Amino acid sequence: MSNELTLRDVADERGVSLGAAIDPDTLRRDPSYWKTASSEFNVLTPENALKMGPLRPSRYAYDFRDADAVVEFGENHDATVRGHTLVWHNQKPDWFQAWEYTPDQLRAFLRDHIHTVVGRYHGRIDAWDVVNEAVADDGSMRKTVWYDALGEEYLADAFRWAREVDPNVDLYYNDYGADEVNEKSDAIYDLLERLLERDVPVDGVGLQLHALGDWPDPDSIAENVRRFNDLGLEVQITEMDVAFHQGEEPEDPLEAQAEYYSEVVEACLEAGCETIVTWGVGDGTSWLRGFKDFGERYTGDPLLFDDRYEPKPAYHAVKDALQD
Ligand code: G3I
Repeated sequence: MSNELTLRDVADERGVSLGAAIDPDTLRRDPSYWKTASSEFNVLTPENALKMGPLRPSRYAYDFRDADAVVEFGENHDATVRGHTLVWHNQKPDWFQAWEYTPDQLRAFLRDHIHTVVGRYHGRIDAWDVVNEAVADDGSMRKTVWYDALGEEYLADAFRWAREVDPNVDLYYNDYGADEVNEKSDAIYDLLERLLERDVPVDGVGLQLHALGDWPDPDSIAENVRRFNDLGLEVQITEMDVAFHQGEEPEDPLEAQAEYYSEVVEACLEAGCETIVTWGVGDGTSWLRGFKDFGERYTGDPLLFDDRYEPKPAYHAVKDALQD
């Protein structure tokens, strides 16, 4: 019976959000991508379209065409949309490099950006990754343009500005390499605790879960989910994909990958994390195919659907895990 149901049917039935990152260009030109995205997932994240670079052709202008396309696609197919992301050190506009701003100018720019973007999608986006990757791999604060000019306070400001324009949207801090209990997730825990103590409106933490070679231990992910929940935060898995270290692919990689996907889904649901977003629809359009280190350092096909949008063993494993 399970074969007749889509992943989305099963997720809906279980009351779980199962999602994918979406690229508007592929949506426009590839009917198979469009069909798979709309029928298999109930939550969608614009993969790049809501980042500052794509949104800001100049300091004074916005280009919402790609972001609107993904948000409208979600609305037309009754899927919720995660907003990704308002403040990041990466994918800033090209013109940013040459801008000789003062801290006050940068702060005013960021405030306007957050007000405008969150305001435009008020009531249409359910959760925002307000700040992405503010903590470095060793647990210190990452030295970014935001941190260098504004100090740690930029995080509190960003969450408050987002809350000012949308009182109901869920506001997330999102990061990679912090999926299990480790030095980095400890630092993020401390950071979010500091913010919450000052009544900064943080609702949740996004664990990206790019499992590239070193796969985070599902039990440790569950423990991590529980401790953030105990702090009063929701937890979502926001960018999952699964690959292998180059040269270490097991005999049956698709089965190994399927087993890992299912263990993660089970551990997350058990621990109280009910949103799991994969970072793309099919292997052929995964960001990893264009990632410079892929091929040299990693191997494998990371997602639930293959290049032709045929469901893989991982797809069936996730479906079975949701039906258990
Ligand atoms: O669209 C432009 C195109 O106009 C331009 O000509 C071309 C030339 O470089 O680049 C195209 O943009 C690329 C964009 O993806 C869209 O394909 C960028 O170069 C490329 O850097 C960008 O990569 C994205 C990456 O973030 C940037 O760091 C990936 O698609 C995206 O999957 C990835 O997503 C991040 C999350 O946001 C945060 N967590 C990690 C995750 C993976 O790196």
